[in-house]
Amino acid sequence: MINLPAKIRMFEVGPRDGLQNEPVTISTGTKIKLIDILSETGLSTIEVGSFVSAKWVPQMADTAEVLAGINKKPGISYPVLTPNLKGFEDAAAAGAREVAVFGAASNAFSRANINCSIEESIERFAPVCEAAKAQDIRVRGYVSCVVGCPYEGEVDPARVADVAKKIFNLGCYEISLGDTIGVGTPRKVEYMIEAVATYIPIEKLSVHFHDTHGQALANILVALQCGVSGVDSAVSGLGGCPYAHGASGNVATEDVLYMMNGLDIETGVDMDALLEASAFISKALSHPPASKVARALLPEYE
Ligand code: HMG
Ligand code: MG
Repeated sequence: MINLPAKIRMFEVGPRDGLQNEPVTISTGTKIKLIDILSETGLSTIEVGSFVSAKWVPQMADTAEVLAGINKKPGISYPVLTPNLKGFEDAAAAGAREVAVFGAASNAFSRANINCSIEESIERFAPVCEAAKAQDIRVRGYVSCVVGCPYEGEVDPARVADVAKKIFNLGCYEISLGDTIGVGTPRKVEYMIEAVATYIPIEKLSVHFHDTHGQALANILVALQCGVSGVDSAVSGLGGCPYAHGASGNVATEDVLYMMNGLDIETGVDMDALLEASAFISKALSHPPASKVARALLPEYE
């Protein structure tokens, strides 16, 4: 198969992007246990929460306690989302060594998600990136709605490229391109990545797919063929976005890993250990995994 990388970076977002959207209250202890199990899988990055308003996303209100409670393994990064300087200061005080700013390629989504326009969001991210640099904290940048927006419809790849460039230029070590509502198909994803890659080196890009229309794995494959080598996913296919009605979970980490194993692409992640995490969180949430691979391989869901 043409143009596939020898290895990829897998970025686990389940404890954040997944659990931020669960309707039931999940105890801090359950979150900590999930992250501790994930820390034994070989994953090198596990996003663990968000320093956002508890009025907006109550599910993430205990992120400081989660960060304090997890068994931080050397070599693993445990990033958190920080939409503004207040979030950054709280994250730094809680010991975060990696944070993420998150913007959007659509103004309507930006307002619904973080209560400001795209331009205003960049102004809010600038001091976060400056403060992070001063404290030697890594910053990742997200761009949401890179293919479509729940309010504005199709999104022009040039728009995505422009926002991605502005966020990257603030000093982010990479940009994660988010198909927040999972409307992308491979050709649209290819055009979008090509547009972004005219400004940002391809090795500084990751992709973040939600699987609303079952296209996530196909989109990941095409992204890898374009030269992308970072993939976001959520254990068990947890997730959604509270400000993107109808968006289903992230592509499941188990499903991504199964495909990478089949393609002989190195990830460093162990399937059996990952399935333990999937079984644990499915039991805690009392619903079967959204991951097809977990349902095929875990005896209790066969
Ligand atoms: P705002 O209301 O515009 O903020 O919210 P404000 O500055 O006007 O302050 C209002 C109140 O919020 C004040 O408290 C502030 O202290 C407080 P009050 O005086 O009313 O008691 N506040 C905060 N509290 C905690 N942490 C903070 C913070 N900042 C202000 N950082 C804000 C702006 C961004 C905070 C709000 O809109 C918010 O929390 N939004 C939630 C965003 C979010 O978490 N969305 C989901 C994650 S994004 C996503 O899922 C997409 C992604 O996965 C990629 C993809 O799929 O595409 C990343
Ligand atoms: Mg997401």
